Parts: sequence; C-alpha cells; structure tokens
Amino acid sequence: HEADAYRTDLMTITRFVLNEQSKYPESRGDFTILLSNIVLGCKFVCSAVNKAGLAKLIGLAGETNIQGEEQKKLDVLSNDVFVKALVSSGRTSVLVSEEDEEATFVESSKRGKYCVVFDPLDGSSNIDCGVSIGTIFGIYTMTHNDDPTTEDVLKPGNEMVAAGYCMYGSSCMLVLSTGTGVNGFTLDPSLGEFILTHPDIKIPKKGNIYSVNEGNAQNWDGPTTKYVEKCKFPKDGSPAKSLRYVGSMVADVHRTLLYGGIFLYPADKKSPNGKLRVLYEVFPMSFLMEQAGGQAFTGKKRALDLVPEKIHERSPIFLGSYDDVEEIKALYAAEG
Ligand code: AHG
Ligand code: MN
Ligand code: MN
Ligand code: MN
Repeated sequence: HEADAYRTDLMTITRFVLNEQSKYPESRGDFTILLSNIVLGCKFVCSAVNKAGLAKLIGLAGETNIQGEEQKKLDVLSNDVFVKALVSSGRTSVLVSEEDEEATFVESSKRGKYCVVFDPLDGSSNIDCGVSIGTIFGIYTMTHNDDPTTEDVLKPGNEMVAAGYCMYGSSCMLVLSTGTGVNGFTLDPSLGEFILTHPDIKIPKKGNIYSVNEGNAQNWDGPTTKYVEKCKFPKDGSPAKSLRYVGSMVADVHRTLLYGGIFLYPADKKSPNGKLRVLYEVFPMSFLMEQAGGQAFTGKKRALDLVPEKIHERSPIFLGSYDDVEEIKALYAAEG
C-alpha cells in the first residue's frame, strides 16, 4: 500500500532537521529549537499575507526604515513577530533585520549560540497587488562567550551555518540548507506543518531565463550590458533567453533555483553597490545557490567571500546556474 505509507509517513521540517542534527553527536537540539521559531514566524506571516486585504494589512505603516523605504504595515508586523519569536527562543544572541537600523543584542539571560540575519518581508512593493513575497534568513554561530557585538554578524557568508527563505505564493514553501544540500518544504495548512516536497534540490547547470530589471539598463556597466545583450541577441545561433522578473527576490530566486537561469541585480551608476543587502539577501541566496550546485558572483568575487563592514551594506549580485554565472565572470574578467 505505497499510497497509505505516504499518507502516514510525514516528513515534517522538524523531523527532517532532527535527523540531520542527529549526525552531530554534540548537538543538543538548539538548532531545532531555533528553526521551530523561524518556522513559527513564517506560518504567522503566511497567514497574515493570505488575509492582508481583508485584515486591512495592506498599505503604509507611516514609518520609514533605514533603507529610506516607506515601511508597509506587513513589513513592521512581520519584523515584530520574527524578533519576538527569535528572542524568546533563548537560542540567539544577535539579530539583524532589514527593518531595524541597529542590531538587536539579546539580554544575557536569554542568549543562545546563534546569530540570525533576516529580511522579514522581501518584495514589499508587491504586497498590495497580491504578487508573491517572502522572508529570507541566514544563521551564524557565536564564536565566544563574551557580550555579543556587531562583529559577530559582520562575517563573510562562507561562515554561515544555515540559510533559507519562505515564499508566500500560490502555496507557502520553505527552502532550507544547513550546509548539506537544499530541501524544499510545503506548508500543509490543514496540519500547520511544513512537509518535505522537494528533496535535494539541484539547479540545472544551464538555463534559458535571465532575470533583471531592464529599467536600469541605461545605468549598467559594460560587462552587464554585454551579457544582457547576449541573452537577447545571441551571436552563436542559440535561442534568445526568456526574461522573467517578478520584483520579489524570493520569487525570482525560487524560479531560478527550480528552472535554472540567472538572476542579476547589477551595480549601476546611481547605485555602485547595487540594491540588494549583503547580510540578509545576497548571502542567504548565494549560500543556497552554491548548495544546489549553482554559483553567486558580485562582479568582482565569489559573493560568499565578501566581508561586510556595515550591517545594511549592499552588493551587486549575479547568481544562478553554474554555466550562466561563468559567462558573467568571463565578461568581468575580460574588462579587467
Ligand atoms: P524588500 O522588499 O525586502 O526591500 O526587497 C526588495 C528587493 C528584492 O526583493 C527585489 O529583488 C528588488 O528589491 C527589486 O528591486 P527593483 O524594484 O529595483 O527591481
Ligand atoms: Mn525593504
Ligand atoms: Mn528584500
Ligand atoms: Mn524586506
């Protein structure tokens, strides 16, 4: 009765991570507790997003964040839920959120060994029109027992121990890596559980989709301009690539991960460091891409080797299928 077995053998995200962690004899379940609180936040945001219009949760909150963006009600609500869930987990020491100017340092009685950097609501400009949005997070571990400082999160992405995102779209999907591959879990609202639906995700080695905001084309540098030109007017007789751009990084990256292709948010004359934030957008998505067999490049170096100096620092990013990113790297190398 294969069908019956499937119905009763539920591989929830908690069970999956417990299996993973059981490979480390010294693990005491701290990561599992941390993850269950991130999952709680995602379930809350999923529910709030699904009834946003009804619950009058669309529109502006009347505040502006450090990014100079007008905060949406859902930006502020999601941020509050994640900060409270992470602090109360007793497993974190430092939190960095897109929506908070300063890092949050957890008071000593509630401190734990993890530092979480996160974008509570990614793609805010798409909230009011019902287009997919998401949450992005990255996890570092504390390396000392003294009082935490910003130094504990100003680390290269190659020191992250886990990263993931949750996409609030036609279904609610959580994609996670703890450093041994990428797995996708879909929320079953009738159970309130994320169930493993996409085991061991690998990105196709090459894709035929490019994803960029062409509205910035007049400000792009040479290599980016050449690459996009090549996507649209291939010289070697290969078919032109399709353009797909949602404007929510989570949605554009999720499609790239599953279908292959390349996502780029390049530098431009107006923003020499591009738009996307290193700690809670570039690093987690780069971590996932590499774990799925893809690549992530800044135009100068491997994205995960960046060492951020400020918690809201930005970087250009080119990520996706291995071969597609190789082409971009060659163009930047040629420019020298
Ligand atoms: P956020 O809503 O968290 O501020 O992030 C928005 C980001 C990212 O989701 C997306 O890839 C990018 O902004 C889109 O920027 P443009 O509208 O400039 O293309
Ligand atoms: Mn924002
Ligand atoms: Mn974002
Ligand atoms: Mn955001």
